[in-house]
Amino acid sequence: MELRNGFKKKWWHDAIFYEIYIRSFADSNGDGIGDINGIISKLDYLKDLGVDAIWITPFYPSPMFDCGYDISDYKSIAPEYGTLEDFDRLIKEAHDRGIKVVLDMVLNHTSDQHYWFQEAKKSKDSKYRNYYIWAEGKEGKAPNNWYSIFGGSSWEYNEATGDYYYHAFFPQQPDLNWRNEELKKEMFDVIRFWLDRGVDGFRLDAINFLLEDAQLRDNPGEGQEQEHIYDRDQDDTHDVLKELRAVLDEYEDKVLIGEVFPGTPGQSQKYYGSGNDELHLAFNFLMLKLASYHLDFNAATLRKETQLWDEATKEVGWPVAVMGNHDQPRAYSSFGEYISEPYREKLAKGIAVYLLTSKGTPFLYYGEEIGMENYLFMDPEEFRDNSGKWLYNYLTKEKGVPHEEAILKANDWGRDKCRTPMQWSKEKNAGFTTADKAWTLINPQYKEKNVEDQLKDENSFLNFYKKLIRLRKEKEPLMAGDYVWIDNDSRDYMGYIRKSSKGEVLVLINFTDKEIRLDENMFINKREKINLLLSNYSDSTFTKDFILKPAEALLAEFV
Ligand code: GLC
Ligand code: CA
Repeated sequence: MELRNGFKKKWWHDAIFYEIYIRSFADSNGDGIGDINGIISKLDYLKDLGVDAIWITPFYPSPMFDCGYDISDYKSIAPEYGTLEDFDRLIKEAHDRGIKVVLDMVLNHTSDQHYWFQEAKKSKDSKYRNYYIWAEGKEGKAPNNWYSIFGGSSWEYNEATGDYYYHAFFPQQPDLNWRNEELKKEMFDVIRFWLDRGVDGFRLDAINFLLEDAQLRDNPGEGQEQEHIYDRDQDDTHDVLKELRAVLDEYEDKVLIGEVFPGTPGQSQKYYGSGNDELHLAFNFLMLKLASYHLDFNAATLRKETQLWDEATKEVGWPVAVMGNHDQPRAYSSFGEYISEPYREKLAKGIAVYLLTSKGTPFLYYGEEIGMENYLFMDPEEFRDNSGKWLYNYLTKEKGVPHEEAILKANDWGRDKCRTPMQWSKEKNAGFTTADKAWTLINPQYKEKNVEDQLKDENSFLNFYKKLIRLRKEKEPLMAGDYVWIDNDSRDYMGYIRKSSKGEVLVLINFTDKEIRLDENMFINKREKINLLLSNYSDSTFTKDFILKPAEALLAEFV
């Protein structure tokens, strides 16, 4: 099959991806920590849900300062997650079920506990010195004004060598020097190591952070407000990505998915490469952005962003549809802010309709399919994510902000709220672990929202997801079709037809808590009849009266 612009359809164009935050997914050995064998035990569940590929967050040895995104050994598995043998079994068991496995790969930085860095920081003559980025201070201060993602200067002073090293994230995550050929070779070797073990591709962490301006020029602006002109998105990042893609292409049918941050359409477009020679997919942070920045969200903002993304990827590749990940608030909670209480669940289903009927590869975040919500951590002692911890301490200790206010801000910025264990059942600890306590707090909501109960209930959130996924696979236009937009101006509802040579599917989503009556001529035209495929109301009357109930979302066909 040919997709637009002559792109041949590959497995990842129509795969349903599912992100597994390994530490919180399923614990097989009762130590309170999710692990590889836990994932294996849930493969049948994922298969039944309709998942075609899993992306597993980092499981490599790590001091866990950034929950595994600080790797100290790239070619092995942290003992709490299992062994390489377990991993090989995971690959086999997943592949036996037709599920692909994608790994999270952190190329931008290592842990400061990695052997290379431990050696590099000892002396300027270290063999590994040039694996990292070093600079002399200026008048006793950092070499320039670059500001790190997690707060504070991006430069850290190193006693032994009397100069500074660069870190885009925490000081415990020193950035690698991708202008060093030797380092490049080492990392490509890591890529081959996992490809040789049978993985199907990678999700590349913070990929647009890979290189920095060689002259280390100051960014315009200061602190958090600065424009990241010189510390991200450098031109030669694309040269490295092309080389990396060539390594990947030594193997057959592997996929490269990149986290390009903050991921505006124009910025992300560049990472597909000019000749389809860099990433296959770049995350679209549109929903994440709309959700987390408390913007004025309505049908018009979402439609406009969707159109921009469609346009931006038209020539270069294929879009991604995603509503949540391990860094962002849970979609259910974010979008719930935009509607009155009785319709929160309806709207969350509407957002799922958008996710699974829009053009692009859908990525689900574990628990999203049962409507998991944010869980606020009200005791700072319980924080596991150092970014929330950092902000709480900064606000209370340095800014004198009272606890009540600081804890909310720390929850907003921190990521613990979306990393609580998967809610499998209403058993103790949500069926996640047999240990007394899990590694992090469990959302007590598991008693009402869990997989076991939802599997049994025909009208559950989970079964709605399953039906949507099934429809996405059955109705070819939902994958390959172009958009025909209905009512380009409405702020209240979104309407489109996905249209291909094989047919048409109509999608309507009411984003308000009011009824909306539509003019049937807008989409019926010369067509005879309209046939409902799925609605988030079991008593939808739309095909008779063309009324969308409050927060109603539906798919329909013309017959
Ligand atoms: C990415 C990850 C995030 C991590 C950061 C640094 O944004 O998704 O969890 O903290 O990179 O590795
Ligand atoms: Ca475990």
